[in-house]
Formats: sequence, structure tokens, C-alpha cells
Amino acid sequence: MTTEIKPQNIFQAGFTSLNHETSLENLPVIGAIPEWLAGSLYRNGPAKFEAAGGEYKHWFDGFAMLHRFSFNNSQVSYRNRFLLTPVYREALETGRLSPAFSGVKLAPGVEAGPPNKNAYFNPDVNIMVAGGRYLALTEIPVALEFGSEELNTLNAFNYDGLLDCQVFGAHPHYDFNEKRIYNLGVKFGRQSYYQFYAFDAGRARPRKVAEVPVAEPAYLHSFAMTENYLIIVEFPLVVNPVDLLTSGKPFIENYRWEPQRATNFIVVSKATGQVVNNYQAEAFFAFHQVNAFEKGSEIIVDLPATGQFTADQSLLLDNLKAQTTGNPDPARFRRYRLSMQQNQTEFEILNPLLAEMPAINYRHYNAREYRYAYAVSNNRSQPEGFENQLIKLDVYSRELRIWREAGCYPGEPVFVASPQSVSEDDGVLLTVILDGKSGKSFLLVLDAATFEELGRAYLPHHIPFGLHGIFTA
Ligand code: CO
Repeated sequence: MTTEIKPQNIFQAGFTSLNHETSLENLPVIGAIPEWLAGSLYRNGPAKFEAAGGEYKHWFDGFAMLHRFSFNNSQVSYRNRFLLTPVYREALETGRLSPAFSGVKLAPGVEAGPPNKNAYFNPDVNIMVAGGRYLALTEIPVALEFGSEELNTLNAFNYDGLLDCQVFGAHPHYDFNEKRIYNLGVKFGRQSYYQFYAFDAGRARPRKVAEVPVAEPAYLHSFAMTENYLIIVEFPLVVNPVDLLTSGKPFIENYRWEPQRATNFIVVSKATGQVVNNYQAEAFFAFHQVNAFEKGSEIIVDLPATGQFTADQSLLLDNLKAQTTGNPDPARFRRYRLSMQQNQTEFEILNPLLAEMPAINYRHYNAREYRYAYAVSNNRSQPEGFENQLIKLDVYSRELRIWREAGCYPGEPVFVASPQSVSEDDGVLLTVILDGKSGKSFLLVLDAATFEELGRAYLPHHIPFGLHGIFTA
């Protein structure tokens, strides 16, 4: 990378490639990692943005790399591996990059090649465990299975051919009561559909449980779930399905932001697969959900929402790296109340700060009334071009706790409950942090209750800013 890194933009290292694969035992720890913490934090994200033939333009298009931090007896080990997809192998062997989510900046003298049917198969978004299989996910109906110990790439997994859609989400929900995983698909065609699939007993065999016809499908990165309902939050970022199938343009460039349309909450019954209600709200966009639950005659949906969709432009690597003060209209935690009696919605902003990559005590409070939400955020008095603090929001009292250190940039937090936990926030929050001052990353362990640091384990290199991950015991 030739971009000059100015002192005020030291987060830029998070958008530079990590080419190096390694395995390290006993990382140096400052502070103390709780003895009870046993298991592995798996992270997925883009890690390599260029090849001989050019550079990817969009953050999400970087080649997928897996990272694993394992915890045992207060020690931390680490391993990282690229996922060996056809597009990654091709880039290494021939230098060619294929446009996928967004486009490619070709190196001088390099001409664009023919469309690559594997271009979208770069599962750098999230990780799901189903039927004992570890699956790296992006937003297509094919996952890539990997070995949980070595992080070695196994086979492409097409869900036994049981999916009838072209887009399949990277944010599945786990229903611990029903012992079932749900995920959202979109089928494009003369008649398009939103679809829900269920994985019974957590097995890797989906079956379609709901299908909702739609003329112009929205871009949906996630969905909400309560005890009885699956909720499509349908933003006015829409696509003409025929254009999407035939335009040849990178994925996101086919979508149009049409704020004159409403954002709709399409509420689907888990029991019947039928739409039971469809609420209209003002236009907004959100990538993620914080939580959703039923209370009396209301459905509550908490999500980090913005009034604009700019992620096609603002998440281009050139723009990300040049940004100094953050997004003028960032995602903030909003609480939507859907009144089942009056068929109306209202929202309030739970906290005015930017909040993204939300986390909760998912195992015990997902789809239930809850109190604590965690997120990455940007400091109000010293905002930077990338999120520079972690927050914990008490959604009852609105009290906010902040963890922040100058020159440090956190990724998605993951909550792990302590073994005998009795309160919602009894546990730790795990986060990979880029220390921009040293250009290296560390794994931070916060006490989730007090939001104070317990310990950190340093790596000898940086980890590019990642997307999502999971903890498995
Ligand atoms: Co996501």
C-alpha cells in the first residue's frame, strides 16, 4: 500500500492486507485472562485487498481470512488462515481479481476479464456452526466448510441443494427454545420472494418455512427474531430482479436507494409461515439487529439505523482510508415499537452515539426482553475515521459505559457468559483491537459488568478490520 498514513489516520492499517499465515502459542498477556474462559473465538473478515492485476475497491471484497483465538488456563493461542476459494487461488496464481460486491481498480495495462461465476464465493462475512460443521458465510447459498482446529479449507457446502434462492444471509438466528437455526433467503425471478429456512435440531439441512412474494426485493443483511416471529426489516434499498440477474454489474451497484418508499416490518409467524402483519415506517437502513422481543401487545425491534444508505460509497476502501471525522449520519441504536393492536410504529433513539456491530448476551437473552447492548462506537469529542471506542448501553436506564484508548480501533465485540452467571452482564466481552500506534492488533478481554479491562493478548502483527465471528466453548 502506498497511501501515506498520517498521524490522524493511523486506523488505515486496518485496511491494509495481512499476507502472513501463522500459529502462535501463549501470546504475551498484559493483565489476566479469567481462568473460566475456555473455548475459541473465531473471526472472519476481508484480509487481502490486492493482487498483481489490481485492487478491490470495496472493503467487503477483500479475500476472506479466518482467525482463531483459543483460551485455556488463562493462556491465549492464535492461528490465522486464508480461505482457499477459487477466486483467491486465481488471484494468487494469475493476479486477476473479479468484481463481486463492488468493483476492481485494475492495475495499469490490465484489462477486465470475462465475468467470473465464482466471483461472489468469498465467504468473509460470518461463521455458523450447524450439525457440527464450521461454515464460513457470505450472502450466497453456498458456504465454505473449514476445519475448526487447523482452519484448513474443506469443501464448498451447498446445503445439500435444499435452498431455492440466490441470496442467503450471513446472519442466521439461533432459536435455543426450538433448537433450530433460522436464516433468510431471497429468490429473484419473474416473481421474487423473501424466504425463511429452518435448520431443525441445528442440523445442516435447511427446509423452507416461509415465502413472501415481493416485486422489487430489498438488500437485507440481517433479520430480526422474537419468540414467535421472524421479522424482515425491508429497507427502501431495492433492486429490479431482472436487472440484477442480467446487468453484469457488481452486486451492490444494482440496488437503488428510494427513500420515498417506506421501510416495512414484515412479521412472519414461526408457527404458520404466514405474514401476520406488515408495518410501515419512515425510510431508514440498517445492516444489523441488536435484539427483538414481544412485550404485551407490542413487538420491540432494536437496531443500529441510519436515515441514509451510503454504504456503497462510504465503505469503499479509498473513502474509508481518507475519512477523518466519521460518517455525518451514522447508525445509532433505535428502538421501534410495533403496536399489534393499532398496526403502527414509533421509534426512539436509545443513545445519540454511533453504534455498530452490536452484541448482546445472545445465548440467554436473544429474542427476549434484555437490558444490555454492546457495540463499537466513535468518541463524541474526538471522532475519527474509524470507530475508536466500545460502548455498553443499559437500555433500561440509558446509562452508557465506554472503553477507549487513544489510537485503538475495536472490531465487533462478542459476549461470553461466565459459567455460573446469574445476571445478564456476568461475563466477558472479547474484541480484536487494532493498536494504530504500533500497527499491531491485540485481543481485549473486558469485564462485561464493569466494562473494565481484565487483560489483553498481543499479536506480533496487525489484523485487518474484520466483520463477524462466534465463540464456541
Ligand atoms: Co454483518
